[in-house]
Amino acid sequence: MTKRTIFIAVMLLSGIAFLFPQSPVRKLPASTEARIDSIIRLMTLEEKLGQLNQIGGTWYDTKTERLNEEQTAMLKAGQIGSFLGITGAAETGRIQRIAMEQSRMKIPVLFGYDIIHGYSTITPIPLAEASSWNPALVEQSAHIAALEGSAIGVHWTYAPMVDIARDPRWGRIAEGSGEDPYLGSVLGAARVRGFQGKDLLQYGSLLACAKHFAAYGGAEAGRDYNTVDLSERTLREVYLPPYKAAIDAGAWTLMSSFNEIGGVPASGSSWLMTDLLRKEWGFTGLVVSDYTAVMELMNHRIAKDSTEAGIVGLSSGVDIDMVSRIYLRKLAAAVRSGALAESVVDEAVRRVLRVKFVYGLFDDPYRNARPEKEKELLLAPEHRAVARTMAQQSIVLLKNEKELLPLSKGGKTIALIGPLAGNDHRRDLVGTWAWAQKPEHVVSVIDGITAKLPKGSKLIYDKGCEIESDSGYRAQKAVAAAKKADVIVAVLGEAQRHSGEAASRSNLDLPGRQRELLKALAATGKPVVLVVMGGRPLTLQWEADNIPAIVEAWHLGVESGNALADVLFGDYNPSGKLPVTFPRNLGQIPIYYNHKSTGRPLVPTDKYTSRYLDVPNTPLFPFGHGLSYTSFQYSAVTLSSSSITKDQSLTVSVSVTNSGKRAGEEVVQLYLRDDVATVTRPVKELKGFKKVMLQPGETGTVTFTVTSEDLSFYGLDMKKRIEPGTFTVYVGGSSADGQQAVFTVLP
Ligand code: GLC
Repeated sequence: MTKRTIFIAVMLLSGIAFLFPQSPVRKLPASTEARIDSIIRLMTLEEKLGQLNQIGGTWYDTKTERLNEEQTAMLKAGQIGSFLGITGAAETGRIQRIAMEQSRMKIPVLFGYDIIHGYSTITPIPLAEASSWNPALVEQSAHIAALEGSAIGVHWTYAPMVDIARDPRWGRIAEGSGEDPYLGSVLGAARVRGFQGKDLLQYGSLLACAKHFAAYGGAEAGRDYNTVDLSERTLREVYLPPYKAAIDAGAWTLMSSFNEIGGVPASGSSWLMTDLLRKEWGFTGLVVSDYTAVMELMNHRIAKDSTEAGIVGLSSGVDIDMVSRIYLRKLAAAVRSGALAESVVDEAVRRVLRVKFVYGLFDDPYRNARPEKEKELLLAPEHRAVARTMAQQSIVLLKNEKELLPLSKGGKTIALIGPLAGNDHRRDLVGTWAWAQKPEHVVSVIDGITAKLPKGSKLIYDKGCEIESDSGYRAQKAVAAAKKADVIVAVLGEAQRHSGEAASRSNLDLPGRQRELLKALAATGKPVVLVVMGGRPLTLQWEADNIPAIVEAWHLGVESGNALADVLFGDYNPSGKLPVTFPRNLGQIPIYYNHKSTGRPLVPTDKYTSRYLDVPNTPLFPFGHGLSYTSFQYSAVTLSSSSITKDQSLTVSVSVTNSGKRAGEEVVQLYLRDDVATVTRPVKELKGFKKVMLQPGETGTVTFTVTSEDLSFYGLDMKKRIEPGTFTVYVGGSSADGQQAVFTVLP
């Protein structure tokens, strides 16, 4: 066994800000601020409100690809500050020219669009990318999205979505980085860096927009848009860190969310949008509301009419009204009646103009109006290559009994069965938020496997059933095909429409009759590999009990088929780890790894402890879980000291050995537990991770530096604090196992 010591120092993030210094652009030069003030002084009240008005283009509002006459007239009158959903370098350039040449103030407009995981080159959905636990690769993925967004004339993407989600019934869990604030913060910051690049003035960068501020993922019962009711401590410890990390990574815009939090709608909350975001965090960028969220303050019944909704939204700190046009239509009268101070309008306009300056639009309003870039950048081969690598690393090997995977290299007959395997469901493979996608750009599973079919092997395909409708159920035919094979690969799961916005599900089993088909396939006695596709954890207890090999493939984007074939045939050794817990059944939800002890933690032999009668407390697959085609052994954890003071740091080391026959990557995870504190603390919290490649027989030493900031929490007074006492360290390949050690923080 060769021993090559790899010294990998992972500086633990003291609250994330450590790795990403306070954004360098928080304060603009005084000269720029002076220019902004001089512009505001020249503007009429209507023109100011125009800057705060965002209208939808194309299918959002106009149902056509071009602005209608009314909107063109609004543009000339200076009543539009930004657009949602207008794409095309030529079209955005044409619209910008109207603003720059035919309006009085000649203020450039911003073009925003949802480029969540690619534009033409759709990469895996963000929840899949999070399974890679590879911030550098996630950043690269966001960067190619920014290049393609720039090519279609867009300035601003409404991403990254950084909402923590602990409830897989919520369809938008697909759009974020899962349940953990640390992983969500690191990846949210990586996406901001990827979208904005090193210099926002450079071509190929997009303004990022951290959304949905805040705690949208905490919707009760996982039902989209539903009430969120959290303690301030849970808000600050779990849901807020990723937004702060995105801002610290340089994000200049946030999007306010639809939901209320404890009785106050986020899009009308002065505590959230001003006291916390501007005063406590020092954010000087802009907040855009979510789609009609200003109008929806009336639905929340905290505003009696649209004027009041506009006053509440703007006064709380929501600067741009996305498509409800209330600011434009109602607030001039509100200012003139004295119901709203013009200084509030001016401050919002200042933030909008600040962002337009930061993006260089006053110097070059046509910076992205370069139609020749579309041909050069959209679906560029190097973009596809990144998408394939990203997809490979997004795949999680959940189970692999008797090393059924990888499929042997040659001379076998493979039965490929399932509605998501064929060429007729390629659109589903790209997942949610991929409207521009063209199915012909997507490599299907059957195409990917065919391209890599080993010499002498044979592939039989049968759809077996539809994703969810009863019609087309043809298990007999599929079973007949399967009986001729040596191994069955069943590709089952959710359609594109099953996750994303307005896609909550109350039943998380495989949709339709897919499990029935799977049972028929398993009954043949042939070995079955189950590939699960979808935008969320599904309830797979029967599958886990009866299927020897299970791969979570999420929705992997344009390179789905190639990446899946790379993994199934062993050309890429899967390294993914779950960014979210997989429940055994719906009844366990919400279930997440960083839970509290309770006063009666489970004692298996004691009925009167926190448990169910009908299901274990443990999940089906835990946060951080993911297997490899090789195996990794962990040494005992060593600590640089058994105790530290509050201002000292501690070095945590572990040796990891590849004890298998294949090279492979392991995500070494570090968790901490504050053993006793003046408020209840989670049983463990992720505080660091490192992905290491090890050759067969190779040993690497992974070192983490724990700083006292990592030990802090919000005390009874809601102020960050560190308390003396013991802390337990866990280092391992998942949240459910790991080597332990204990150290003491001295008084
Ligand atoms: C949607 C979504 C938001 C998106 C916006 C613009 O309703 O909630 O994520 O960015 O509207 O499309």
